[in-house]
Amino acid sequence: MNQEDLKQAVAQAAVDYTLSRIEDDSIIGIGTGSTANYFIDLLAPHRHRFAGTVASSEASAARLKSHGIDVHDLNSAREVTLYIDGADETNPRLELVKGGGGALTREKIVAAVAREFVCIADESKWVDHLGMFPIPVEVIPMARSHVARQLVKLGGDPVYREGVVTDNGNVILDVHHLHPIASPRQLEETLNNITGVVTNGLFALRPADILLLGTSAGVKTITQSQ
Ligand code: A5P
Repeated sequence: MNQEDLKQAVAQAAVDYTLSRIEDDSIIGIGTGSTANYFIDLLAPHRHRFAGTVASSEASAARLKSHGIDVHDLNSAREVTLYIDGADETNPRLELVKGGGGALTREKIVAAVAREFVCIADESKWVDHLGMFPIPVEVIPMARSHVARQLVKLGGDPVYREGVVTDNGNVILDVHHLHPIASPRQLEETLNNITGVVTNGLFALRPADILLLGTSAGVKTITQSQ
């Protein structure tokens, strides 16, 4: 099985899981990226089984609408039953690195609201320690140089993601050379405390509740308690 097969398998497992958890009035949080795209496409035939979705990016919102799936404003959603999204890295505690696609801030907001956060990933994303994948940091444009200097003081090597403007009108610095991150929770807080940072791609303060991991031996379900 190649990586795309694993992503599709895990997306199908996520659809099955979603259908077992939702009711007619449920709102589903939808992530961003290639694995989330498979999930959207496989969820589409079941669109009459739930009330609608909230999306973590304009790209996912457009894909959902192209399938005739309602996309709601998060502010008008009473509750988000569950949130399904991919990751760039996950450790055994289900702490994640996200934001390879630049949607980290809206992803973190939807994850914060959701009752349950289900991460979907192929086995290439499984690591013992986070940080080989550079940590994306979304920054207010005028603070870019200031934030970069603070990141260097923390031992990182920030690289400006050229030509990328987020859905929120901001820029992204990808921070290399932080591996192995000893305490993802502490680093997440430290990065968030730099003035000018909107948010960062560490999802440790609010990790996933469940990981569906696509492996060549099948889809594994991993929970935080394991
Ligand atoms: C989007 O900003 C990211 O957080 C994605 O969830 C992450 O990059 C995973 O993407 P793939 O499913 O394309 O690997």
